[in-house]
Amino acid sequence: MIVSKWLVCQLVLFTTLSHAFTDYLLKKCAQSGFCHRNRVYSENIALSRNSYYKLDAASVVHDPLQNVLHATIIKTIPRLEGDDIAVEFPFSLSFLQDHSVRFIIDEKERTSVNDSGLLVSPQRYKETWLHAFDEKFRGEVSKTNFSESHFLEQPRTGNSLWSKLTSFLSLSNSTSDAIRLQNGCVSLEVLTEPFQLKIYWRNTLKLIVNEQNFLNIEHYRSKEENFAHVLPEETAFNMFKDDFKYSKDDTLPLGPESIALDFSFIGSTNVYGIPEHATSLRLMDTSQREPYRLFNVDVFEYNIGTTQPMYGSIPFMFSSSSTSVFWVNAADTWVDIRYDSQQNKTMTHWISENGVLDVVVSLGEDIPTIIDRFTDLTGRPFLPPMSSIGYHQCRWNYNDEMDVLTVDSQMDAHEIPYDFIWLDLEYTNDKKFFTWKPNSFPDPKRLLAKLNKLGRNLVVLIDPHLKEDYEVSDIVINENVAVKDHNGDDYIGRCWPGNSIWIDTMSKHGQKIWKSFFESFMDLPSNLSNLFIWNDMNEPSIFDGPETTAPKDLIHQNNVEERSLHNLYGLSVHEATHDAVKSIYSASDKRPFLLTRAFFAGSQRTAATWTGDNVANWDYLKISIPMVLSNNVAGMPFIGADIAGFVGDPSPELVARWYQAGLWYPFFRAHAHIDTKRREPYLFNEPLKSIVRDAIQLRYFLLPTLYTMFYKSSTTGFPIMNPMFVEHPELSELYDIDNQFYWGNSGLLVKPVTEPNQSETEMIFPPGIFYEFSSLDSFVNDGINLMKRNISAPLDKIPLFIEGGHIITMKNKYRRSSKLMKNDPYVLVVAPDANGVAVGELYVDDGETFGYQKGEYVRTQFILEGGHILKNLPDHIPDNLADIHNDTLRNTSIEKIIVAKNTSQHNVTLNDTVTVKQDGRERSLSTKLSREDDNRIIIMNPMLDITEKWELTF
Ligand code: GLC
Repeated sequence: MIVSKWLVCQLVLFTTLSHAFTDYLLKKCAQSGFCHRNRVYSENIALSRNSYYKLDAASVVHDPLQNVLHATIIKTIPRLEGDDIAVEFPFSLSFLQDHSVRFIIDEKERTSVNDSGLLVSPQRYKETWLHAFDEKFRGEVSKTNFSESHFLEQPRTGNSLWSKLTSFLSLSNSTSDAIRLQNGCVSLEVLTEPFQLKIYWRNTLKLIVNEQNFLNIEHYRSKEENFAHVLPEETAFNMFKDDFKYSKDDTLPLGPESIALDFSFIGSTNVYGIPEHATSLRLMDTSQREPYRLFNVDVFEYNIGTTQPMYGSIPFMFSSSSTSVFWVNAADTWVDIRYDSQQNKTMTHWISENGVLDVVVSLGEDIPTIIDRFTDLTGRPFLPPMSSIGYHQCRWNYNDEMDVLTVDSQMDAHEIPYDFIWLDLEYTNDKKFFTWKPNSFPDPKRLLAKLNKLGRNLVVLIDPHLKEDYEVSDIVINENVAVKDHNGDDYIGRCWPGNSIWIDTMSKHGQKIWKSFFESFMDLPSNLSNLFIWNDMNEPSIFDGPETTAPKDLIHQNNVEERSLHNLYGLSVHEATHDAVKSIYSASDKRPFLLTRAFFAGSQRTAATWTGDNVANWDYLKISIPMVLSNNVAGMPFIGADIAGFVGDPSPELVARWYQAGLWYPFFRAHAHIDTKRREPYLFNEPLKSIVRDAIQLRYFLLPTLYTMFYKSSTTGFPIMNPMFVEHPELSELYDIDNQFYWGNSGLLVKPVTEPNQSETEMIFPPGIFYEFSSLDSFVNDGINLMKRNISAPLDKIPLFIEGGHIITMKNKYRRSSKLMKNDPYVLVVAPDANGVAVGELYVDDGETFGYQKGEYVRTQFILEGGHILKNLPDHIPDNLADIHNDTLRNTSIEKIIVAKNTSQHNVTLNDTVTVKQDGRERSLSTKLSREDDNRIIIMNPMLDITEKWELTF
């Protein structure tokens, strides 16, 4: 065994030298026992049309205390001789939030395997939701309004709901009993035989659960009795063993345990979500390919266009008909998708290796509502510190303190703003996390203090694998919080430091110990709170592990197998890290910034992420856009890709184009592999250096707009890099557009150039007026369809437009970091639509503390009416504005207003007098301070402040 593991390790190491991930290390569906079994089962069931699962109508009860409907689903296995085998699965269903339905299917009999002497718990793991759901739902999830009024047809007799239900059932004379329930606009039918759910939004059918009868729960049976338990449509392939070359040591202590179910999205042939995959935004039909797989793994130089798993998993999918499925399961999961354009529906088949079947279906009026529901349930994306949405300079590695400070000063010398500098693996003493390499970083506090002068921050890498035999790993072992192998011994695998153990952050005690390491490591003077953490390799990545990750039979706290919670592990690591940093900085009330590579639904509450180890070539630049968009529609918007490609040396042209694309990623970081040539932006020759500097500066100029979008996202989950179909769902041609996008709801529309040798690119425009960002040249699409236009895109130009109808806010002075921009006044850019109307929002807080949670922020709306009247309508001003000792909220003046003019507005010119109405008084501004040309009216120094209500007429 050791030999084979070592071989895999060598293969992994070898592949780091080549270009393309070694696919053969990962299972295909046909090599994964449970995936193959369920695909075969679905094919055979489609032919036989048999169904083995029914909901026992007599078992239906309504628990009035919890407001949950309980019933039993029975699987019947026919036998030629003897009695049929009946297996019971407790089923529960409740309404959740306003527009969601949750149902859970567990297995009853597994309790009887309790005494089998196994180290692992035989119970199906049912705690994924406790990690994925937002705290506010963890205690109250079942307290839903599931009362009498929710029954469509009022039962005639009986006092209790239970008897009403039974009487209702007995009234039904259809072949399949149906229970009809309603909660607001959502109604549903529970069909009993075969078991099926039909879910409606405003009486329109949106989703059918188990329409295809693919429901399959591999119930507990011993190896000896297996034969009698296999259905005619099933195959027994790899039920008790795993013969895949790199995971054949899996002991599979509980045999087959998989769960599977199909969902048909009605009225749509477009589905999105289930990141992370390096594929298109609109998910592909998988009839002729591998299913999408959700299984957190380390995929160095991942392949593009495949459904292979990646570092993170969010099992959330929605259709363009505004219906979503959240599959609350953290085990290895595969998803098949089949589009049926004739019937205008999308059939999906979800397969997980084990756990309970726990599903939340949400419905709504539009897609933003669906994402809103999902991030209400799983938690809102955290509001990052302003500095962390600036530019991050990273490489593997900055070698020592002098190196870091040289980069720092060179960035300033070349007028390239930045906020974060990063230390990768090599800052540690011999790859022992929570230590510093003594000669290179003799005085980390000194370094932090120097960076702090300009408000800059340092991020250091801390991974969850700990080198064997040093003080930190010794504590983990002594405190008994290392992940265990299947024999119950501390598991030892190989990662960066060689032999390592893994902290079990799934355990409360493990979290406490993990936190204590940060407390010592980040023991900083009170004036320093600029050290932040990057959790990498937390899938976890294990060089000699099966499929580059943890053996599935490892054991976590409470005897839970890795198999059951694999996709949650990374989340548990970064949440424990986040909580540690947050409490360490509690004195200064600073919001932590944290980067994680592995993620799950809920990760957005505490961490940003990135797309992992990409390659410096055009294909990876291009794919980064749909990848970032996919995370943005799945509730985890704070993501970017390594600029300008992690592995390899990018050409100057690629560097330019990557920065021009990357400035739109919510997370904007340059990163490079240790074997690449240095590529800090100031090292480039002209014109590249200026092109890159301009891209980074543009990001900084737009920070007020971007921060406002992060705020919106932190309150509603709204995407920051935003697919065009979200803004214009009425245009079906936009449903598969993923090479151009909007920035939130700001009206900025971008199409980064992602191919070499381009001097122009074709963009598509919805109906409306569009203003080229720098010249404000405009054109009108006055049709009802998309318009195509060739847009000039020489190397120094980003195809970028403002859609008429929007107002964006900027700060237009170069400063070395975001902190130094705090006192700068605002510039408004007003882009009227055909009626001279435009709107925009601005959110401002101190950019670094949790003060905003106490109401210490300003939120306002700008409205242009009739092309001539601009209003500022603040809707939130802190009561104690004057007392808040923080310069952001005290410097909120506007230095310039630029109003774009378009052809349909050529008659709009500057009046002789520009007047301002404020506090019931009117004053005039001297028009000498204002100018206009063919494309714009510019009002200089209007002496206006965003915290005050005013109306400007020009
Ligand atoms: C992993 C990370 C990469 C990092 C490297 C060394 O490959 O994905 O970003 O530079 O480890 O820590």
